[in-house]
Amino acid sequence: MVVDNIARTQTERDLTSIPTIPQSERIAPISGAAVVDVQDFSAYYGAFRALDGVSMQIAEKKITALIGPSGCGKSTLLRCINRMNDLVDGFRAEGRLTYHGQDLYDKGVDVVEVRRRIGMVFQKPNPFPKSIYENIAFGPKVNGIKGNMAEIVEHALRQAALWDEVKDKLQQSGLALSGGQQQRLCIARALAVQPDVILMDEPCSALDPIATLKIEDLMRELAKEYTIVIVTHNMQQAARVADYTAFLMMRQDRAGELVEFRDTDALFTRPRDKRTEDYITGRFG
Ligand SMILES: Nc1ncnc2c1ncn2[C@@H]1O[C@H](COP(=O)(O)OP(=O)(O)O)[C@@H](O)[C@H]1O
Ligand SMILES: [Mg+2]
Repeated sequence: MVVDNIARTQTERDLTSIPTIPQSERIAPISGAAVVDVQDFSAYYGAFRALDGVSMQIAEKKITALIGPSGCGKSTLLRCINRMNDLVDGFRAEGRLTYHGQDLYDKGVDVVEVRRRIGMVFQKPNPFPKSIYENIAFGPKVNGIKGNMAEIVEHALRQAALWDEVKDKLQQSGLALSGGQQQRLCIARALAVQPDVILMDEPCSALDPIATLKIEDLMRELAKEYTIVIVTHNMQQAARVADYTAFLMMRQDRAGELVEFRDTDALFTRPRDKRTEDYITGRFG
């Protein structure tokens, strides 16, 4: 019996023991201020651990990309940053995730306010089945944001580089726009409630290359004022737009872990971990 146990432990160790260098060499600190600080953070869906012990920081007014193979927990991590996973039955988090120093998972945190400050843009553009104007005005109205609504709408549409294309048809349905325009409408909608951080989950994966480049240009522009976190399965996109890149991977037990995190250029040109190197050179994933 004892021998059996030892044998099994040995096998498990062989299967999971990928030689890695210490975390301190794989997870580099950011250079400026951190808006979000993730410390030894794990996430569970019921008994399933989707993320294990992630530690990283999100730099202020920079773009941080989360990359890695499908199922490694990129969306889970992103959705933890504005507590979107609370909507999933059986979801549970461990560790610390702070926003400007405040633990987002503390009791008493106002989740509605969290989601206003930390906005989200999804993979598939999802305008409301309402006019372009109403798509933007809805959030500020609900959140009691004061000011001239027509000006708020125009400002958000200008910020999202959409104003010139829609200014003459604000009463038309948001759903009548092209895919790329719809996605910029969703970005404008997120901006209209005056957020601080914008989370984007594969925002270009449903778009053609031209619409994709427009969104990437827009992201670079927005990063002057906002902190952006983007999930992308497109490594070229991460290399083009992100200041920092986090590479996540699934372990044998399917828990996602953060393999490497550093500034984008360093991660793509001088990866420290063999697994990062294998992934960015296309050996798996
Ligand atoms: N709502 C959910 N309920 C249960 N399991 C989930 C849920 N969402 C994601 N998962 C699981 O968590 C893991 C990570 O998923 P996800 O964060 O979507 O990965 P990625 O975005 O990197 O593809 C996967 O194994 C996935 O099946
Ligand atoms: Mg995902």
